[in-house]
Amino acid sequence: MGANLHIPIETECTALVIRVNQQCDFSTVYIGKRLANPKDYELIPSFEAKQFNGDYTGLYSSAYTPNGTRNLLEPALQVIHADQNPSLDLKYVSHQQKSLDQSNEVILTKIYLKDPVYPFEVILHYRAYYKENIIEQWSSIQHNETDSVRLQKYSSANLYFSTFHQYYLTHFHGAWAREMIPEEIQLTAGIKVLDTKLGTRADLFQAPSFLLSFNQPINYENEDSGEVFAGTLAWTGNYKIEFEIDSMRNLRLIAGINPYASEYFLIPNKEFVTPSFLFTYSSQGLSTISHRWHQWARKYRVPDGQGNRLTLLNNWESTYFDFDEAKLTSLIQDARQLGVDLFLLDDGWFGNKYPRDNDSAGLGDWQVNRRKLPNGIGYLISQAQANNIQFGIWIEPEMVNPRSELYENHPDWVIKLPNRSEYYFRNQLVLDMSNPQVQEFVFDIVDRLFTDHPQLAYIKWDCNAVIYNAYSPTNLHQSHLYVDYVRGLYDILDRLRKKYPSVPIMLCSGGGGRVDYGILQYFTEFWPSDNTDGLERVFIQWNYSFFFPTITLCNHVTNWGKQSLKFRTDVAMMGKLGYDLVVSKLNENELKFSQQVLHDYARLKSIIWHGRLFRLVSPYRLNRDIASLIYVNAEQDQAVWFTYLVGNRYLAGSNGVIRLKGLNPLTMYKIQEINIYPGTDQSTIVSVQSISGDYLMTYGFDPVVDVQRASVVLQLTNVMN
Ligand code: GLA
Repeated sequence: MGANLHIPIETECTALVIRVNQQCDFSTVYIGKRLANPKDYELIPSFEAKQFNGDYTGLYSSAYTPNGTRNLLEPALQVIHADQNPSLDLKYVSHQQKSLDQSNEVILTKIYLKDPVYPFEVILHYRAYYKENIIEQWSSIQHNETDSVRLQKYSSANLYFSTFHQYYLTHFHGAWAREMIPEEIQLTAGIKVLDTKLGTRADLFQAPSFLLSFNQPINYENEDSGEVFAGTLAWTGNYKIEFEIDSMRNLRLIAGINPYASEYFLIPNKEFVTPSFLFTYSSQGLSTISHRWHQWARKYRVPDGQGNRLTLLNNWESTYFDFDEAKLTSLIQDARQLGVDLFLLDDGWFGNKYPRDNDSAGLGDWQVNRRKLPNGIGYLISQAQANNIQFGIWIEPEMVNPRSELYENHPDWVIKLPNRSEYYFRNQLVLDMSNPQVQEFVFDIVDRLFTDHPQLAYIKWDCNAVIYNAYSPTNLHQSHLYVDYVRGLYDILDRLRKKYPSVPIMLCSGGGGRVDYGILQYFTEFWPSDNTDGLERVFIQWNYSFFFPTITLCNHVTNWGKQSLKFRTDVAMMGKLGYDLVVSKLNENELKFSQQVLHDYARLKSIIWHGRLFRLVSPYRLNRDIASLIYVNAEQDQAVWFTYLVGNRYLAGSNGVIRLKGLNPLTMYKIQEINIYPGTDQSTIVSVQSISGDYLMTYGFDPVVDVQRASVVLQLTNVMN
């Protein structure tokens, strides 16, 4: 090959550029703001030649580092060939780029690589979403050797950042009821790893989504500046994301399925496709990053992402397992009185030999409990219909209680070691989704619910256990279990979505232990946390909002937390609003308030779900004690602005103006306070009749949040509307 070849993978504002040199080595030379002239990418110096003193030997910036030959650093792909040779080299063969849609807004680039010695090939895939500035990367691996090749590590992406001096990583960790706690660190020489080995409820302790800020820490005070990169792995199982600062002070990023206990035996001529790693880069700060994820997810990833969602009343916290037909019938009537779209029946409706009266029995036995519900689900649906609302139901089909008929009848369907004690997570074990019979069983549970009850309008799909004693009684290769589990799960969800494309399904995992863009292909929404304390939720929702659009976040008003009903409602409204409290125990004002909120929400939800989110004041900001954010619709003639008190220091509050964002400077807006609690004095700021977007964004406006007004929701409307 002659001179270097450059393969730019571009979106409207960003570029990832792969260079192929004369030795057919392929490396990442650039990730950042797209250059006006693609020829200029050729000017970027090659660090390999310049700084390695002629050796080390050409793989530092590899776009997919092979193992066992020239690499001194962490590989992206590590294999043992059929002849037991533990080495791999990869050379560029060819590439192609093609548009995947008519308007050229989604472009797929494929780069074909081959080992010069073995019949072993890799294709790197990059799907660039032009307008949303998201790049989705994955690899496929195939060979034609005499026997299986052992894949010991098989990453989705291997990126290289070389234009910056310092790298700041924000990752999100937590536990049950404490999901998505951000932590920012400066990366130092060596490797920082984000990973999970939990198998199912995989993100419980660490999310597969992160932010990188270049040269300086992320600017949370001003989200419109700074160079930021955001990445997320679309995989609902064990993952590993490595950040390696190499000896040249550059950053190598490798992301993919966690190789931990997961050696994969790849048979000849079968393609192994990795999950996607998705990323975006912005030279304009964090706000743009979120807009991109939100737009992309709504348009391309989440089912019905640009459509509608249902408000609901859930019975979990009002009854737990203790209910019967009469109680549920009266809750259904409550749901109607409240004014929600749907009643959601939670855990506890099934199991006969081992009734599901608490969380230690019955899970897996998906027959209606005859004592609690003698007339079955159909009766409850008819009650909902009589009350003019819809009906949804909770399931947790991937798991089983040892005290269940399912466990008795099919012990070989359960993940557990034959010669070790069982360990339980919430009294449960996990079904072996790598077993086709189990897949059929799980598909059938859901399919039967819909075929028996075509009017069923909603599913809450839960997952409360992690995998201990990872061992499949039927899988030929034990080391395939973690991967095959997720693939089995996706297969079922895929089949279900083909048959039931539009039904809303909530993704829940004992709170938010399982949120990623792999599984969100199948779910319309997710449950971010069991923690619904209003104050906690400001923070939890804030952190999810970096990556996930508001329309996907289910927020329920419950009795968690000491804040007022208004505060808790205002916070829940900042997402897909629902309720999980005893409506009949609400006093007159509380009920009136909630009914009015639902009424207003019906009018405003489309701005909140589909509008642009601007985070205005971070709850993490020192000495401010508030959180503030605004949703602005595409036409910029309507907005909903939420501000919350999050501290209780002396005189804590907004104490002055907040500059708004996203409005049209030329538009004159009317500002109106909504969600005013009955009996409260009129809002001090009611009826600001006409104020320009320019003023609001340049000078600002004080929503007057203080101890007496701990949360304030303001609606902005173009006065000409
Ligand atoms: C999990 C969920 C809850 C509820 C219970 C039911 O903990 O997060 O919302 O559905 O299971 O057992």
